[in-house]
Amino acid sequence: MELNEIAKKMCAKGKGILAADESTGTIAKRFKSINVENIEANRLTFRQTLFNSSGMKDYIGGVILFDETIRQKTTIGLSVPELISKNGAIPGIKVDKGAKPLAGSSEETVTEGLDGLRDRLKEYYKLGARFTKWRAVYKIGDSFPSSQSIKSNAHALARYAALVQESKMVPIVEPEVLMDGSHDIKKCYDVTTNVLNECYNELNLHKIDLKGTVLKPNMIIPGSDCKDQSSPEEIAGKTLDCLKKNVPSEVPGIAFLSGGQSEIESSRNLNEINKINDTNFLITFSYGRGLQASALKEFGKNQNNVENIQKAFNHRAKMNGLSSKGKWSINLEKDSAA
Ligand code: 13P
Repeated sequence: MELNEIAKKMCAKGKGILAADESTGTIAKRFKSINVENIEANRLTFRQTLFNSSGMKDYIGGVILFDETIRQKTTIGLSVPELISKNGAIPGIKVDKGAKPLAGSSEETVTEGLDGLRDRLKEYYKLGARFTKWRAVYKIGDSFPSSQSIKSNAHALARYAALVQESKMVPIVEPEVLMDGSHDIKKCYDVTTNVLNECYNELNLHKIDLKGTVLKPNMIIPGSDCKDQSSPEEIAGKTLDCLKKNVPSEVPGIAFLSGGQSEIESSRNLNEINKINDTNFLITFSYGRGLQASALKEFGKNQNNVENIQKAFNHRAKMNGLSSKGKWSINLEKDSAA
């Protein structure tokens, strides 16, 4: 498949991306919150239960995996990427090695993982991956993000994207401006504008074919400790405006991260954005917590209750599928959860 076709399939109307690529350290935190031991077998059981659900077939266009998961064999005989493909979604892989302290700027990070990436990509392609993810992280503070952080992260994202396209896979470019802090929505808008601009400068410099990429941005929202919280309409208006002004129109798909918003908030805000989407961008979700929080709770109650875990996941997948078309409503939450 051409890169542009893959990107469009990942973000097809009514579908989105399941970010199940928590590193072993991050899934440890999620499992701790539900009192589940963080061992390989439990990580497989949880993820296999989601990948084998009906919600996968109907609402998920792509799944982002972690290195361990893409190599696992499910208990039904198929490898994890085979199970995902069988259910109609494209397997993808997180290839960065995490956000590490940025030398010279003590409170910021730069994402690492370029060394040896070309060889790792070849292996991931053989294992079935057709797209990849790299996440850059920007913190908002009085003097953050610095231009050092904005430039170094954009440079790394572009070098990553070039290697991925060389390997015939679609790079998800994820510059995440964190919602931690007391800044207002305007600050988030301004910082995201600068971050996106620098990312697309570097992507152009590195001759990335934008038609074969997917952007995974944050929404434009006030900091989680900001006193002035915004309405979904304001969030949607500012988010779409920021994307229209800063994302080149060749980019086929934009799939948001949930970034600490609750399940309902992330569905509601995505829905509002799609209600006013007058662009050609396919705008959808690439949620981790926004898709898995309820399913994870069910897993904590009883790891073997496949039906309840899948029911919770199917519901969130359906709600976000509707939001990707601007067809979600709070009443549907109640009806379909019942
Ligand atoms: P959240 O939706 O939980 O923010 O995770 C998405 C993701 O993949 C972050 O890199």
